[in-house]
Amino acid sequence: MNYHQFLQEGLFRALRLLGLKGRVVNLYLVTDEEIALINREYLGREGPTNVVSFSLWEGQRPASPTHLGEIFISRDTARREAREYGVPLRDYLLSLALHGLLHLLGYEHERGRWAPWLMARKEEELLRRLLGPERRAILNLVRRREYMPAKLAVNVDHVATVREARKVHYPDPIHAAVLAELGGAHGIVVHLRGDRRHIQERDVRLLREIIKTKLILEMAPTEEMLEFALTVKPDQVTLVPERPMEVTTEGGMAVKGRVREVRATVERLKKGGIPKVSIFINPDPAELKSASKTGADVVELHTGHYAEARGAEEREHELSRLEEAARVARDLGFEVHAGHGLSYENIEPVAAIPEIEEFSIGHAIIARAIMVGMREAVREMLSLIEKARG
Ligand code: PXP
Repeated sequence: MNYHQFLQEGLFRALRLLGLKGRVVNLYLVTDEEIALINREYLGREGPTNVVSFSLWEGQRPASPTHLGEIFISRDTARREAREYGVPLRDYLLSLALHGLLHLLGYEHERGRWAPWLMARKEEELLRRLLGPERRAILNLVRRREYMPAKLAVNVDHVATVREARKVHYPDPIHAAVLAELGGAHGIVVHLRGDRRHIQERDVRLLREIIKTKLILEMAPTEEMLEFALTVKPDQVTLVPERPMEVTTEGGMAVKGRVREVRATVERLKKGGIPKVSIFINPDPAELKSASKTGADVVELHTGHYAEARGAEEREHELSRLEEAARVARDLGFEVHAGHGLSYENIEPVAAIPEIEEFSIGHAIIARAIMVGMREAVREMLSLIEKARG
């Protein structure tokens, strides 16, 4: 059976399983060039993708009594991705066709925040019934997508920057953190710097008491900071390099050649009762390999170079580095986070990288909050992240 017949048969059976016997779907296997054209023409997006679908349903009702819509799959992208993920092409094509079919049925639109998760569940259920439970590689791949809804940790440093500009008691980063939580933030981040230019020790202590999500403390791996972290016990420590005169963190930690030293720091934090340790790192496979020997649970990929890239070509290049690093980090067993310089203008391509589980964003949200308010600013950012995962 060739791919066309296999997919035709698969979709036919899937429609029956979904109680849609007799309905029709058009499926086209196209090239990268063709899907890029469709992507640009109809969806306003650049470049090729694996699958797109166009529904003929309007709201709850089909516009045609039998025809559900059209699915386009790029066989070039499918082949590349199947190889990367180590799954048989035939199975991967069927998973894409089912993904397209569920989109046609409006799965992602009706169920809000958890839609990608519910959709992956349905996809897995259908695939299991069509292929059988022994096709483990593809079922595991789709199951991993269940973790797709990404989290947003909000960094409130720059509320403290405004406060410290006048050395007064307002605006208070604690208030901002509570509002960020009300807006949907999954965690609150603060960077306690050696020079205390924004966040103060009092802020971290109070946040530890007050916030209901999780507290992430960014810090340089100095003796002073280690002792402080071990008394406050945040939910996560993110190790970052720090240069006294820098405007903001300039790059990831250099782990290569310093594995033993970094491992000792990670060990001390974990032994001291801090559940998760993260390393802020450049999207570089060699650095990631070194990081995998330190005992850290998380890597936060530095998105600063992507954010600062000039022109489409440089940006694409930086985005590919992030995509590759995210895959490598995941394969090495890390939980993958990303952050630095992410904004309302540049978040979407990064938020679409499925391996990234959490984004750490500060400056852009605080800047936006000045204009629209904290809850609204967090909500806007979350909905952009969620949209990119649809
Ligand atoms: N992640 C890390 C490790 C950082 O040091 C910072 C800046 O403090 C951020 C994320 C947030 O960056 P931005 O403020 O540009 O969103």
